Amino acid sequence: MLEYLDWGKRNRMRQIIQSDGRVLMLAVDHGYFMGPTTGMEVPAKSVVPLLPYVDALMLSPGILRTQIDANLSKIAWVLRASGCNSILDEDIDNESLILTALEAIKLNASAIAVSIYVGSEHQHQTLKNLAEAIADASQYNLPVLGVTAVGKKLKDKREKRYLALASRIAAEFGADMVKTYYCEGFEEVVAKTPVPIVVAGGPKLDTYKDVLELTYQSIQCGAAGVDMGRNIWQSDYPVAIIQGVRAIIHQNYSVKEALQLVESLQTEENKRVPLFVETQEDLEASKIH
Ligand code: R5P
Repeated sequence: MLEYLDWGKRNRMRQIIQSDGRVLMLAVDHGYFMGPTTGMEVPAKSVVPLLPYVDALMLSPGILRTQIDANLSKIAWVLRASGCNSILDEDIDNESLILTALEAIKLNASAIAVSIYVGSEHQHQTLKNLAEAIADASQYNLPVLGVTAVGKKLKDKREKRYLALASRIAAEFGADMVKTYYCEGFEEVVAKTPVPIVVAGGPKLDTYKDVLELTYQSIQCGAAGVDMGRNIWQSDYPVAIIQGVRAIIHQNYSVKEALQLVESLQTEENKRVPLFVETQEDLEASKIH
């Protein structure tokens, strides 16, 4: 797998996608347009207990610099490279690049991530961002993760025809991996996208079973893994659910087996203690995409 890539890029991809061809990427980049998102108000506190179970961490450059210990090894950094908008705008699709490939290399990143909003008002601008990022990153053999984002207006576009279109466009441009949403018939999205796919978790689901089903179905349909955020760090037992997700990805657990594992890990010690009062308004605000 990935033999078609140059050595440097293959080596960086291998830091992300493990030798079994799978990856558990933890997404904590939400602050780049949502600010101090519920559950991720102080990233260092929320992220550190989860790191032992993570292959790659997707985050913004400022959070890597200020919240993550530079002595840490064995974790791949996937740095958010597009942004320039916030939830206060009418939509979130008007993005530009926020990070050069050189800056990402200086931060020892294994890849950069750029969002595209296919079908949105700023589709063209975001596709240009991806094209420019790929050209820039290729100077350093730095992989690019193309993120098929939907924003506010296209929130309901999570179906296979749309996701296959957006994912394929990212791959056609030269993205080395694509992050997209799961949908019914997802195997078709995977088959039509000739690079590894990771699945975003989306807004917090109702139960752990739902999260594990999402992970299981994604893997069954051919995804390389997940790039999941809120369903892990907004949950009551982040350290428990991440281990269930990991067991499905790397140990081929069934949903039932993973759920048993998660339940056995729901201890007082693993319980998330909110750092601030969590209002319904804040939680709702974190569900906009
Ligand atoms: C946007 O906030 C980011 O691209 C996230 O990394 C992405 O949405 C995945 O996180 P979640 O599983 O919370 O949807």
